[in-house]
Amino acid sequence: MLLTVDRGKPQTLTIQVYEQIREAIWNEVLREGIKLPSSRELAQQSGVSRNIVMEAYDQLLAEGYLEVRPRSGTYVADGASLRHRPGPVGDRGGAGAGGGAGRRAGAGQHEPQSSEYAERAWIDFHASRPATDYFPRHLWGRLAKEACYESPEHSFGYLEPEGALKLRRVLAPYLRQVRGVHCQPGQILITGGATQALYLITKLLTDPQGYIAAEDPTASEMRSIFTYAGAEVRPIPVDDKGILPDRLSRSDSPRFVFVTPSHQFPLGGTLPIQRRIQLIDYARAMNCYIVEDDYDSEFTYDGVPIHAMQGLDPERVIYVGTFSKILSPSLRIGYVVLPQSLLPAFRTSKWYLDRHTSALEQLILARFIEQGHLDRHIRRMRKVYRKRREVLIRSLSEHFGEVDILGHAAGMHLVVRFKQVSFSEALLERIQSAGVLVYPVEQFALQKGAYTNSIVLGYGGLTTDLIKEGIRRMKIVMAEMPEMGLAVGDDHLLNE
Ligand SMILES: Cc1ncc(COP(=O)(O)O)c(C=O)c1O
Repeated sequence: MLLTVDRGKPQTLTIQVYEQIREAIWNEVLREGIKLPSSRELAQQSGVSRNIVMEAYDQLLAEGYLEVRPRSGTYVADGASLRHRPGPVGDRGGAGAGGGAGRRAGAGQHEPQSSEYAERAWIDFHASRPATDYFPRHLWGRLAKEACYESPEHSFGYLEPEGALKLRRVLAPYLRQVRGVHCQPGQILITGGATQALYLITKLLTDPQGYIAAEDPTASEMRSIFTYAGAEVRPIPVDDKGILPDRLSRSDSPRFVFVTPSHQFPLGGTLPIQRRIQLIDYARAMNCYIVEDDYDSEFTYDGVPIHAMQGLDPERVIYVGTFSKILSPSLRIGYVVLPQSLLPAFRTSKWYLDRHTSALEQLILARFIEQGHLDRHIRRMRKVYRKRREVLIRSLSEHFGEVDILGHAAGMHLVVRFKQVSFSEALLERIQSAGVLVYPVEQFALQKGAYTNSIVLGYGGLTTDLIKEGIRRMKIVMAEMPEMGLAVGDDHLLNE
């Protein structure tokens, strides 16, 4: 059991130790009936005095989380965890209360996780966490005040479902210039993130007889949106450059093909122009759409970002973008650029969903872009992410020797492939019990078995210290597993 204490925090060390153990019990990281280390051992491992651990244990005993078995030791008491309790009718179990990890909900299926909202005690290498510590709070606050005081009165009434014209007017030239997207403000629909855009697209373009062709592996969040919206998803394999268009069916047309051509999620390939053209030809021949999710293309660390596919054929490609990665996922602002013919149906659907996305946030964002802050913020964040990526790669090679890092140097995650390791459920659980969350590529794959030795490591939301600590803990845990044939300190062995 590894605990982390922070002497800079306002809570006492006893409370920090108590809360971490309590949370581990709630989340079944420490399961009922498990024996806890002695107070002396835990104190040594965690770098606190034995008294602190004894006080925390006493509190947990008093509250019924722990029990002392005479002449044996301290154990997690029966009935102390939250997660296995049956939820209310209709609760599928994965998204219950309790905070913490609980991340592997069903093989390959993403369900909303409570950890996404809870304060984290974990070193979480989740791929879609941006650096919230760099959110420009003061600037945003100032712009919020300006937007509130200076916006015309009608901004506080109902908007058009497609969103604030002020935002769409600054977004269109930005997308043209930075991403090569061909669009007028009238083709943009502002949505509650890419999530809502993809839900609307699926609802409007598919029917029970149709299907969606999606890259495999792909983001489990996105795949579960398609499924939840009622569509069948058929996997199309990818290689190190992205989707293989030759593998699309010529006899049975999908309603759309879902792709991440700038930075394939999760493997990181950038789709070459030949394949982009093949996809456009396919969409024209089969009379379907390409849905392009351009989720993190602003952050490239090698060369210049390649323009979006949408510019090749704005009538066939539906372009989806988001401010979740560039700024913050809590803003819930994304957008979809549509062919003119699809707009009326999307407007109507958006109206029924939520009338429109919150106006004030859109007006603040419009000012942020208009005044040049977005460009500056992206330049700044590129440096932050480049550094975090470098530290991650360095830590991996320090602890594991040469490892294969897959994909283009971009975004805020990478995939690391080990030569001799299979990320079994047991290994992942051991890593998790050291307070570290990593994500096997298999979790994102529909066709299982091809990626058992690879994991996705998101570095966007972790400080360099946490990145180093996370990889250090992962190494310790892996070295402790006898089947790895490693001892702590045997760096480089995993990949020899
Ligand atoms: C592939 C992909 N696209 C887009 C997003 C962003 O979604 P949203 O804009 O709804 O926050 C994510 C985040 O998980 C993602 O993994």
